[in-house]
Amino acid sequence: MDLKKYELQNEKAELKINGQVYEFPILEGSKGERVIDISSLRKRTGCVTLDYGYMNTGSCASAITYLDGEKGILNYRGYSITDLADNCQFVEVAYLLINGCLPTMGELGNFKVLMNKYSLMHEDMIHFFDRFPPDSPPMSILSSIVNALSVFYPEMINNPMEKIDKMAARLLSKVRTIAAFSYKKSMGQPLVYPRHDYSYCANFLNMMFDSPVAPYEVDPVIVNALDKLLILHADHEQNCSTSTVRLVGSAHVNLYASISAGISALWGPLHGGANQAVMQMLERIYLEGGNFKKYIEKAKDRNDPFRLVGFGHRVYKTHDPRSRIIKKVCDEVLTTLNCHDPLLDIAKEIEEVALHDDYFLERNLYPNVDFYSGIIYKAIGIPDDMFTVMFALGRLPGWIAQWKEMWDDDNWRIGRPRQLYVGPAKRRFMPIDKRTVCDERFS
Ligand code: SDX
Repeated sequence: MDLKKYELQNEKAELKINGQVYEFPILEGSKGERVIDISSLRKRTGCVTLDYGYMNTGSCASAITYLDGEKGILNYRGYSITDLADNCQFVEVAYLLINGCLPTMGELGNFKVLMNKYSLMHEDMIHFFDRFPPDSPPMSILSSIVNALSVFYPEMINNPMEKIDKMAARLLSKVRTIAAFSYKKSMGQPLVYPRHDYSYCANFLNMMFDSPVAPYEVDPVIVNALDKLLILHADHEQNCSTSTVRLVGSAHVNLYASISAGISALWGPLHGGANQAVMQMLERIYLEGGNFKKYIEKAKDRNDPFRLVGFGHRVYKTHDPRSRIIKKVCDEVLTTLNCHDPLLDIAKEIEEVALHDDYFLERNLYPNVDFYSGIIYKAIGIPDDMFTVMFALGRLPGWIAQWKEMWDDDNWRIGRPRQLYVGPAKRRFMPIDKRTVCDERFS
C-alpha cells in the first residue's frame, strides 16, 4: 500500500518541543479524513505518544470498512451497510470483504462449493466437545477449537496467501459447524451435520434446531433475518477484536490462531459480550416488574459502576446505523413468529427515555449494535450464552479480510507499542538475608 499518494503536499503538522518545531506529513483518506504520520517521531524527537485505548491512534491504512461516527455511516468496500443488508446474502458480503468486490454469479457459486467442501469437521475434532465440562462457555469452546484447526490442517500454515481462499472458506464453513455442534452438545442432543443443498444461514439453523424426532422447518423470513444480522456484524474497522487479530497476526502467527485470539477479545462484555449482557439486563428489569427508570438512574450515577449495556460506542456519537436496521428486523421476526417479547417493549422504552435525557445526549450515548440483537436471537430459539458466538460468526469475514490485508501490506511491522515508564528509577540490590519489608526509599 503506497501511502505517499495520500500525503498532502502543502499542509504539514507542526510539533514544537523545547523551542524546536518538527513537521510531520498529513495524509488524507478516500473520504477526506486526516491522519498525522508520526512514524519518524521518536527518531527525530526522542518522544513517543501516549493514548490510552488508542482513542486517537490509527494502527494501519485499510480499504475495507469506513465509519463516520458523527454521521452514523458504515460502508464495506464503499457499499453502504443498508444496501448490503437489504440486497445481499451473508456469503456475498463475506466474499466482498475478503476479495474487495461483490462476486459474480459464477464466483459466488464457486465460493459456496468451496464452503460446502469444507463444512465437515475432522471426526477426531468432534471428541473435543466431549472433553469440555457440560456448562463450558461456548466462546471458550469456539476459541479453543478454532485454534486447533491449525493442528488438523497444517498444510494451510505455510505460504498462507497462496491458500487464503481455501482457508477463508474453511473457517467460514467450519466455525458455523463448530458453533452448532457446541450448542447440540450442550443440549445433549445428537449432532446435525451440514447439508450441501442449504444456504449458509439455513444450514446453521438446521444444524442448530433439527432433531431426529422433530424435523426443523427452515423459515425463509428467519433465514433472511439471520443473513441481515450476520452482514451487520461482518466488519467494523479497527475495533478491539479486529485489532487483536491484526496484532497477533503481525507476529507471523497463522490465520486460525489469530482468529482464535480475536474470538477471545470479542468475548468481553464491553465488546461483543454486550449482546448477552443486554438480555441479562432486560430480563433483570422485567423480573423486577419493568422498572427500567431505576437502571437509567444507576447508569447516570458516576458512583455506580452499572452501565446501560447496549448503549454508547467508541466511534459512533450518533445512532449506530446497525442498531436501526436490527430494530426493524426485530419487529419483522417477532411478527412472523407471532410472538410478543416484553423485553422488546422494555428496550424500546429505555431507548425512548434515554434519548431524551441530557446525561445520554451530552455524552452522545445511543443504542449500539448489541442493544436489540439478543431479542432476535432469543426469538429464533438461540440461547443467550450463544449470542456472542453469533457475533463471532458474523465478524469472521471481517477478521479474515483484515488479517489478509495486513499480510499484503508492505508497510506492515510486528505490532509493538511503547509506554511511559513510571516505576522505580534505580534501586540498590539487597541480598535476601538483608532485605526488610518492601520500601520505596530505594525508588
Ligand atoms: C461493540 O469498537 C467497535 O466498533 C465495537 C463494536 C463492533 O462492531 O466491533 O461496535 C461492537 O463492542 C459495541 C459496544 C458494546 N458495549 C456495550 O454496549 C457496553 C456499554 N458501553 C460502554 O461500556 C461504552 O460505551 C463503550 C465501551 C462501548 C465505549 O467506551 P468509551 O468510548 O471508552 O467511552 P467512555 O467509557 O470514555 O465513556 C464516556 C462517558 C463516560 O462518562 P463521563 O466519565 O464522561 O461522565 O460516557 C459514559 C462514561 O461513564 N458512558 C456510559 C455508557 N457508555 C459510556 N454511561 C452509562 N452507560 C453506558 N453504556
